Amino acid sequence: MSGRIPRDFIDDLLVRVDIVDLIDSHTPLKKTGTNYVACCPFHTEKTPSFSVNRNKQFFHCFGCGISGNAISFLMNLNNLEFVEAVEDLAAFAGIAVPRESNTYQVDEKKEDLSSLYQLMDKTTNFYVQQLRSSEEGKKAVEYLKNRGINSDCANEFLIGYAPNEWKALANSFGQDSLIKAGLIINKEDGQVYDRFRNRIIFPIRDKRGRTIGFGGRVMDNSLPKYLNSPETSLFHKGNEVYGLYELLKKNSKPPRILIVEGYMDVISLSQAGVNYAVAALGTAISQAHLNLLFRLSPEIVLCFDGDKAGRAAAWKAMEPIFLSLKDNRSCRIMMLPQDQDPDSLIRKEGLTNFTQRVHAAQALSDYFFEHVSEQLNLSEMEGRAQLVGKAKPYLEKLPEGIFREMMLSRLKTTSGSTTLNIFNNISTPQKVFSEEQPPRKAAQSSARSAKTAIALLLQNPRLINNINEQEIDWDTLDIRGIELFKNLQQVILSKNTINTAVLIEHFRNTVDEKLIKTLASSNLYVSEDNIDMVFADALNSLLKQGKYATIARLQAKAQNQGLDINEQQLLIKILATK
Ligand code: UTP
Ligand code: MN
Repeated sequence: MSGRIPRDFIDDLLVRVDIVDLIDSHTPLKKTGTNYVACCPFHTEKTPSFSVNRNKQFFHCFGCGISGNAISFLMNLNNLEFVEAVEDLAAFAGIAVPRESNTYQVDEKKEDLSSLYQLMDKTTNFYVQQLRSSEEGKKAVEYLKNRGINSDCANEFLIGYAPNEWKALANSFGQDSLIKAGLIINKEDGQVYDRFRNRIIFPIRDKRGRTIGFGGRVMDNSLPKYLNSPETSLFHKGNEVYGLYELLKKNSKPPRILIVEGYMDVISLSQAGVNYAVAALGTAISQAHLNLLFRLSPEIVLCFDGDKAGRAAAWKAMEPIFLSLKDNRSCRIMMLPQDQDPDSLIRKEGLTNFTQRVHAAQALSDYFFEHVSEQLNLSEMEGRAQLVGKAKPYLEKLPEGIFREMMLSRLKTTSGSTTLNIFNNISTPQKVFSEEQPPRKAAQSSARSAKTAIALLLQNPRLINNINEQEIDWDTLDIRGIELFKNLQQVILSKNTINTAVLIEHFRNTVDEKLIKTLASSNLYVSEDNIDMVFADALNSLLKQGKYATIARLQAKAQNQGLDINEQQLLIKILATK
């Protein structure tokens, strides 16, 4: 594990990069007034409602409501995790990402990985060059042509060719790294040779487009038909799928993802216009695969061959599927006709028919109950009891939620069992909504001042200098939002570099994140010249309301139980300055 990325570095990065440049490099922006606008890259629209503000280093779409800083932009655009987005942003700015607690070992490992990635990229290029310009590569091109792969598609997937030599790579790149990358094989006598020889090469890329492994296919009937990279520090078959980078490039929020079996299926589907397919890499579909894909799309269609092996594979996928099926995620099972795979089928019947098949794929629930009921006689009690026995272990794997409830209730109906209290945990805890008291007028207007003050400070952190600490006894202010305002001040004071983006970053994954983003993007209709004045007004009004509230509190206490000496002095002081 590498160390954490220091907070200061992230803050600096957010001040150093310009979000306008970053976004403009993905989605060309137009300047209008103080903002830059474009059609939102996160939803479909005809007129631009996506706006980027250079001062705040912040984007916001009035159409779909998405907002955030440069890190959020990359996370959303490329479906990245936080750390991945920070790394990509740093790369955009041309700076290396430091890590905290860099022990020697950690350092060494990190070094390794980045040079391994580079080696994989060089190798990808090498194979592509071999395909395109070597004499030997011609037969590979011929093979692809015969299989109906056009050159655009070959380019998109970076298809290459590994020459028929024992040491094409072994003689060109450093051997230690080649071994770590799984590209050459070390024989017992110390000799090394290339893993992939005389094969069509399919680079396997991660979500960010970095090659992490390869698949290689023979061009005749020899065996093994496919060779794959072994597990390396970059490549973990159980976690990766083929074609994901290419898919996300075309559609970062696909409404559904189709999982197929083979490299050629993904490529051929993509060429035919089904650009939402990926393949598990010659392994069974795992929960990690499903979780990876469900983070990108709400629906997964699993496609299996219609033969016995395909049917067995479909049933085998039930366990990981059930474990990953939270609410709002859905799965379908698509069984292909006998002796067809997606590649052959789409060539045979075309895009429209194939797409219809995808849409008509069987709902998971139907598939499941059909399968568990197979060969059972449900008209007899014995059969129905067997059904419960078969289904129960699976249904228990489902995460709590509506889908689980519905599956259980279907099992009850199908098995005719009214006494299914064997499922003792079918509880749906009702959410208790507490009705908020209608706020009083004064509270309303103080909340409004607090909101204005927070929003202005958030949007113009320099205003921190306009707050005169001595004048304000924040603790006496019993006003909604004041905690956040205090908190915001502390954050600003604690930072070496500051802008709105840095502040938003600070509140990522906190309870205030949503509010902070809303306030950062709220338009207060204050012109640049008036910002200081409006901020001062908001502060004054907060102060005043705070004073009134304190006076009221102290007076009430004076009547009920009397004030101690400190409270008396405070009351006198406040009344004097009112
Ligand atoms: P298939 O045998 O169905 O091949 O293997 P395919 O994808 O249809 O390939 P073509 O059309 O003959 O070229 C499906 C997947 O299983 C893995 C590969 O990932 C392949 O794409 N596989 C298959 C291997 O890893 N090794 C093998 O020897 C065969
Ligand atoms: Mn095939």
